[in-house]
Amino acid sequence: MPENILIAIAWPYANAEIHVGNLTGSHLPGDIVARYHRLIGNHVLVVSGTDSHGTPVTMSADKLKKPVEEVYQSFHATFLETFRGYGITYDLFTSTHTENHFKVSQSIFLALKENGFLFTRVEPQWFSPGLGKFLPDRYIEGTCYLCGFEGARSDQCDKCGNVLEPDKLLSPKSKWAGDTSTPELRETEHFYIDLSKLEPQVVDFLQARAPHMRETVLGESLGKIHAEGLKPRPITRDLDWGIPVPVPGWEGKCLYVWFEAVIGYLSAAIEWSKISGGDWKDWWSNPAAKHYHFIGKDNIFFHTSLWPAELMGVGAKFAEIFSGEKNVPLSLPYDVPANQFMNLEGQKISGSRNWAVWGRDALTRYDADALRFYLTINMPEAKDSDWDWAEFVSRNNGDLVATWGNLANRVLSFSFKHWEGHVPPIDLANLREADLALLATIENGFQTVGELYNAVKLRDALKESLRLATEVNRYLDANAPWTAIKTDRDSAALTIYTALRAIDSLKLFFAPVLPFTSARLHDFFGYSSPLFGEQYLQEISDSLGVHTGLRYRGAEQDGIPAFQWQPSQLKPGVPLNQPAPLFKKLEEKVIEAERSRLGN
Ligand code: MF3
Ligand code: ZN
Repeated sequence: MPENILIAIAWPYANAEIHVGNLTGSHLPGDIVARYHRLIGNHVLVVSGTDSHGTPVTMSADKLKKPVEEVYQSFHATFLETFRGYGITYDLFTSTHTENHFKVSQSIFLALKENGFLFTRVEPQWFSPGLGKFLPDRYIEGTCYLCGFEGARSDQCDKCGNVLEPDKLLSPKSKWAGDTSTPELRETEHFYIDLSKLEPQVVDFLQARAPHMRETVLGESLGKIHAEGLKPRPITRDLDWGIPVPVPGWEGKCLYVWFEAVIGYLSAAIEWSKISGGDWKDWWSNPAAKHYHFIGKDNIFFHTSLWPAELMGVGAKFAEIFSGEKNVPLSLPYDVPANQFMNLEGQKISGSRNWAVWGRDALTRYDADALRFYLTINMPEAKDSDWDWAEFVSRNNGDLVATWGNLANRVLSFSFKHWEGHVPPIDLANLREADLALLATIENGFQTVGELYNAVKLRDALKESLRLATEVNRYLDANAPWTAIKTDRDSAALTIYTALRAIDSLKLFFAPVLPFTSARLHDFFGYSSPLFGEQYLQEISDSLGVHTGLRYRGAEQDGIPAFQWQPSQLKPGVPLNQPAPLFKKLEEKVIEAERSRLGN
């Protein structure tokens, strides 16, 4: 029975381009797991979008002196290009600035309100007399009341590390461009979500997932709850860029960006339904559906506590408010395989210092699969990892080119040359013990590699695939078809047939990580049904304007059965297509060239 798998990937803020840390942190692992599940025949829905609201975005617009609409749209466009280039196959990559997302978020807010999980509170907050509006915490700087540091943010001091109570800040100054007025405290009212009421349920939810959740994620989530409990959190802000609070008299206030961005996982599925004819409820109101959240470690609380609490708090009330349907409860996350961070040449990645490898830029010099390979073998699954250019080159040349690429190319070219464009026409009954043993070893990989992908152990899945490729190389060394061809053509034919069949299976193990080259390899073998579907852009218009979504269309949607995760049944004597090398060897000099780009 196929399962319904929701792959929910963190929504990038529209304030910076995507770098390799973002790719290996969330987008790439999400895509790898999605592709694996598609290959085993599951029904997969991959959603995310641009996080268009919030102070990170308005501050960046402020700095660029451009309207925030323009800024979010231009970053959104770079995201679409990046994900297309890397083959991150979103069924829908949309944005939080859509009519659909506004309506879904407002319905969630109202459902929580009706279910009694919201309350309001009046509090003093910094107000700019010059601008005539309240300033978000990040727009206020002043002197720390604990250590005297003069550059403290109102909610946190970077010198002494303490979380601050914003209204106690000394000598406050506005950081809003051009605002020279002195901020003053004024009263303002906000909605809070009462997370304390949902704490026992959130703890149960986490404990039930202990068997399969990463220790790093579970430990941090439960640790935080045990240490400080789940406290009420304000979920509205005095802002004009964002989703209006859907309550009369609350004009000029918006929903807090984190409160609404996580709702995107639901709203994007609903938007996808509308444009594809699919049904979001197959993933969202289906007790058997599994939701995976691919995020970086800085987002853990929001996905293991806030988002589940929002879902528990709304229950079936969301659909009642949104569409008038009764008895449509919502599913909770199944797993949150958050990654740690990837550093770069021993230092933290920093966009502002240009200490970064930018996703789009790297694609102008390297192939997507070469980058995907290094990002996977070095994925920060259990601890922080490091992008090192020398290692990038040695892994590329050693593992990718030598162990895997050359194996495929050598055997295919040899067969193409000596059997005139065909797989050797052997009699399967003649396969020798060593041939059958190799095929059995490879066949076993469908189990071992499959389990690793399923458990989101992607580094190990890739390493196991490489190990199996090494087995095929060993087998070839032992049977030396390159010399046997001159003395014993039948033996060479058996060896090449066996190796081709092993490579045809290995192709599937590598496919989730290396989709572009695996699809080419698939084509060399002459298959007519594609390994994966197509990515394309789609314009979607609504009352807020037109936005472009990135879409994915699987072959099965065109009535072609999906290619299956199963051992190769390669037939002797069938025609091949002209093979070519899959990967490029890199020269040592790129190491220095790349290092000299950093920090400039
Ligand atoms: N925009 C956030 C960030 O870049 C991630 C938001 S993920 C979602 O850190 F939960 F809000 F969707
Ligand atoms: Zn301080």
